[in-house]
This record gives sequence, structure tokens and C-alpha cells, in this order.
Amino acid sequence: MYSCSVQKISNKQDLRRVLAGKKSGRIVFVPTMGALHEGHASLLRQARELAGADGCVVASIFLNPVQFDNAGDLATYPSTPEADLNLCEACGVDIAFTPDPAGMYEADRSISLEETSLSSVLCGAKRPGHFAGVCLVVNKLFNLVQPTDAIFGKKDYQQLAILRRMVRDLDIPIAIHGAEIVREADGLARSSRNVRLTPEHRAAAPAIRRNLLAAKHAYEAGRDAETVCCDLAAALETIPGVRMDYAELVDAETLHELRSPSSPAVLAVAVWFGDVRLIDNIELQRA
Ligand code: PAF
Repeated sequence: MYSCSVQKISNKQDLRRVLAGKKSGRIVFVPTMGALHEGHASLLRQARELAGADGCVVASIFLNPVQFDNAGDLATYPSTPEADLNLCEACGVDIAFTPDPAGMYEADRSISLEETSLSSVLCGAKRPGHFAGVCLVVNKLFNLVQPTDAIFGKKDYQQLAILRRMVRDLDIPIAIHGAEIVREADGLARSSRNVRLTPEHRAAAPAIRRNLLAAKHAYEAGRDAETVCCDLAAALETIPGVRMDYAELVDAETLHELRSPSSPAVLAVAVWFGDVRLIDNIELQRA
């Protein structure tokens, strides 16, 4: 199915019709909210590689209103539709699905989908309803695209864990792949929200990564989790312009307290620069 030109489809019926014609090979899906950057490009290239020449790569570009807990964040979320399609084309995407909210959701929709354990901490504790909105839209998109595989970035570590749980608990026959975080040369994790940083905040933001690396080093050298977290939060607070949201060291699978001192862990942070919220994380493993 691979051709060099991306097919833009904006409604569900057309998407189903086109995908029904696909009888063999993998369908690899990358859901996005648009404002695509090098992090997305990396997911799309991995999708192309996984799909191979016979498979089909589908990207969705849909700014999902249901997952925004903050109307200002939704209103200012960057939108670059033309550049997004060009990037899809350059990365070998076959189908870009670009519905609008009215096409995605019934006006009187009344079903919600809530994960109740992994969502209760980190960003979930700070953004009520966010992950229920993510699960709802991803579930709908999975039903529409019916992919064999889907790829999500590890920058949204909690999202990835919750979506893995969703497919496990609901027996959804899709392989979920986590992709490494893509960073700017100075270490800042790529994010669609980075363009909203002021020049001063943009210059200060790479300190998030530097402090995460220092914390990883301290933890893996034996410092206890609580001290590592406190030191990290204190260090992040000294970054010019930062307002702390959270810094937490949790079990990599449950996202709650570490099951044992040697369990794989993740150190996850969220900070505000003005009204821009950035997240980042680092995986930890003691020998
Ligand atoms: O990570 C995102 O961009 C979104 O949360 C997703 C998975 C596309 C759902 O809207």
C-alpha cells in the first residue's frame, strides 16, 4: 500500500472505506494532536519501518478537546495543518486522518472510559479528566483504524503506561510500542508547546534535562528515592521562571510506590514556565 503521497481523509466513513480495501500487511498507527515536530517525525518513521513496503501507516491529526482540563491550553495549542501534512508525506505516511470534533463526537455522547489506578498520580492527579479523555479518543481511533500496531512517545510516559493498561484490560488486539524521547540539541524534550515559551524560558528549559540526569546518577549510585526527589524539586525551583508542578520517583510499571528498591523506576517531572506546562522524565534502574 505504501505510496509516496499521503492521502488526507477527514471523515470516519471514508477512512473505513479506504482501510477496508487493505487485505494484508500491518496497519501501524500514530495518533497525534498535530503541530508535528521532530519527535512525531521519529514516531512516523518508526511506523513506516514497522509497516514495511506492504503495510500501511496511518497518522491521526486531531486536537482532542475532551482531554484538555484547561480551556486556555486548548485555545493556544499550536496548529500547523499544512506543515503537518508535509511532514507526514516526508515520513512515508499513507493516510492522515484529520477529523473535526463534530465528526469525532456525537453531541449527546454519554460513554466515558476511565482508568483508575495509573491515572490517579503524576499528571493525572494534576489534570482531572485528562487521561479519561485520552483513553476515550484513543479507543475510538483504535476502533476506526483497527491497526495491528500503535506507537506512542515515552515523553508522555504515564499516557503510554495507561494505554498499555487499556489494551490489556479491554483485550484490544493491538501491539503498543513505546518510542524514545526526541530532544533538542541542548536536551530539551521536543514538545508542540515549546514554541510557546518566551526566549528567556526557552533558554532556561534545558536545565530540566540536566537536573534529571544528575538525579538519575544520584539514585543509581544509591541515594534514597525520597532524597533524590526532594533534591530534584529544589534544583528545578532554582531554574529562572520555573513554577514547580511535581517531581516524583515512582515504579516504572505501576506508577505508584516502588515495589522494591531494585524495581525499574521512572523519575517524572512537570514544571510551568508562565502558562506553558512542560513534562519530562527519565528511566532509572539500580544494578
Ligand atoms: O499524545 C498525544 O498527542 C495525545 O494525547 C493523543 C495520544 C494523540 C490522544 O489525543
